[in-house]
This record gives sequence, structure tokens and C-alpha cells, in this order.
Amino acid sequence: MTKFDGKTIAFIGAGKLGETLIKGMLDAGLVGREQIVATVQHNSSVTRVREKLGVEAGTDNREAVQKADIVVIAVKPQAIHLLLNELRDLMTPEQVLISVVASVPLKILEAGLQNQVPVIRAMPNTPSRVTAGMTAICAGRYAEDRHLEQADMIFSSVGRVLRLDEKHFDAVTGLSASGPAFIYIIIESLAEGGVKAGLPRDVATELAAQTCLGAAKMVMETGEHPAVLKDLVTTPAGCTIDGILKLEEGGVRVTLIKAIVEAAGRARTLIEDAENGSACCG
Ligand SMILES: NC(=O)c1ccc[n+]([C@@H]2O[C@H](COP(=O)([O-])OP(=O)(O)OC[C@H]3O[C@@H](n4cnc5c(N)ncnc54)[C@H](OP(=O)(O)O)[C@@H]3O)[C@@H](O)[C@H]2O)c1
Repeated sequence: MTKFDGKTIAFIGAGKLGETLIKGMLDAGLVGREQIVATVQHNSSVTRVREKLGVEAGTDNREAVQKADIVVIAVKPQAIHLLLNELRDLMTPEQVLISVVASVPLKILEAGLQNQVPVIRAMPNTPSRVTAGMTAICAGRYAEDRHLEQADMIFSSVGRVLRLDEKHFDAVTGLSASGPAFIYIIIESLAEGGVKAGLPRDVATELAAQTCLGAAKMVMETGEHPAVLKDLVTTPAGCTIDGILKLEEGGVRVTLIKAIVEAAGRARTLIEDAENGSACCG
């Protein structure tokens, strides 16, 4: 028995994210391999998906969708309109469509289908690959709680899930979807500091990464405000306050705030640019 017993899930697009989700669901025991069907654009990818994940794979989207109870769309934003045209008359209100396509709102997904299909929009991030993902989900106007629950289970297999109003999705894109890139730069920079202070690079990188992981865990598990946790590390006249002074001098707060605001603003325009063929997601 699995949580999705008797259900077939079609992944339209089995690239980096599609693969991660299929693997997450299989590893979590949510589904058996025979419950998954995946499609890709190129024949060469069919072999890769079959060999790597051991699931049925092909290039025929319509055939895959016809077999499915749940359809997860994981293609790049540029491909969404053609894909919706392909599936327009096929999807029924008995199915559910879950889209992870960056920057494509529920209204475009719903308008692209002929029937009143339940639609869930999701925004995961790359740490899903190591089951430490953060995914926001929201429901379209024909989706019910049970559809949100199904999406919740899928994305919970690769990390944490938050149900949020769609109006927050550009901000989510700027913060948790783009955020890992910002954190990698922070980890890299902390490690450079360690190297400058005399540590071997591999040691410095491990110390920096585990420190970020530990600090994040403290925030999540204690529920304390980050400022309170920061104060706990900061002894009067100690080393940490000297470091904080340098961070503030460098404008670390305002720089990070601006990075998120800029990335969130970009998320708003991504789909138009993708339609004009001048941009990509990520
Ligand atoms: N990567 C992440 O962690 C992440 C996080 C949040 C959101 N997203 C969103 O997830 C989507 C996929 O991202 P990704 O990083 O997984 O991209 P990707 O690695 O390029 O994968 C895209 C997949 O879609 C397939 N594809 C393209 N056109 C298709 C079509 N018409 N029918 C069926 N399959 C088709 C591709 O096939 P081929 O393999 O044959 O080229 C490929 O397998 C994007 O919209 C992105 O915004 C990704």
C-alpha cells in the first residue's frame, strides 16, 4: 500500500526537478515505479530517465496524460503555452494538474485548459535534491483541499511545504527559489575568510557550510527570532561583535534585502520574456 495507491502520476518534463521529485516520491515510498510515467522532449532523455529512475518514459505527452490521475508539469516556462495547447482538450476535472513552472500563474494554467481542471501551482527549490527543499504551494479555483494535500505529500517527500496565497509567489521565487545561490556565495565568502585566517580550503568550506546548516536549524527548531540567536553568540567585547561591525560596515543587510527584492521583481517579468524568447528561469 502506498499513499497514492491506485493512482498514476505523469511527469511532463523529467529534467533536474522532475527527476528529483520522482526520486523523492519513490524513496519516500509514496508510489511504486509502476505508478509513474514520465515524458521528455528528446529521445536521448527517454533512455536516461528509464535507466536512472526505472520508470516508464517516453515523448508522447498526450498518451502519458491520458493514463494519469495527477499530472505534474516540470518544463521550462518557454514550453508552457505549446504544452497547454497540446493538453487543452485532454485534461478532465477528475484529474489534477500540478505546475512547478516558474513565473506561470494559475490563471494562465487554468485558461490553457478547456475543462474546469483542478490546478495547483508550486514553487520548489534546488535543495529538494537532498530532501532539504522548500516548496510553496497554492490552489487554483477548481482545486479542493484533497488536491492541495496530494501536492503537499509530493513536495514533502523532498523537504518542507508551505501553503501560501499566490500573491506571494514572486517573493517566494526571489527568496527561497533564488536564495540557495545567495547562500552559496555566503558560504564561499565565509570559507575565503577562513582561508585568509589560515585554514585549509576544504576545512574552511566544511566549517562554513555546517555553520550555515546549524544556524538555519537553530532558527527552525528553536523558533527564536534570528536576532535573539545572534545576541546569544555575541559576548560583550568579544570577537563576534568585531565581526558584526565589519558586516554592518559592508552593508550586508541592505545588500541581501536588495538581492531578494530584485530577484522577486524579475520573477514578475519572467513569463513575458520567456514568451518573447529572451529569458529563462532560475
Ligand atoms: N530545478 C529546480 O530546482 C527548480 C526549482 C523551482 C522551479 N523549477 C521549475 O521547474 C521547471 C523545470 O526546471 P528544470 O530545472 O527541471 O529544467 P530542465 O532540467 O531543463 O528540465 C526540463 C524538462 O522538460 C522536458 N521538456 C521540454 N519540453 C517538453 C515538452 N514539450 N514535453 C515534455 N517534456 C518537455 C525536457 O526534456 P529533455 O530532457 O528531453 O530536454 C526536460 O526533461 C522550470 O519551469 C523551472 O522554473 C525548477
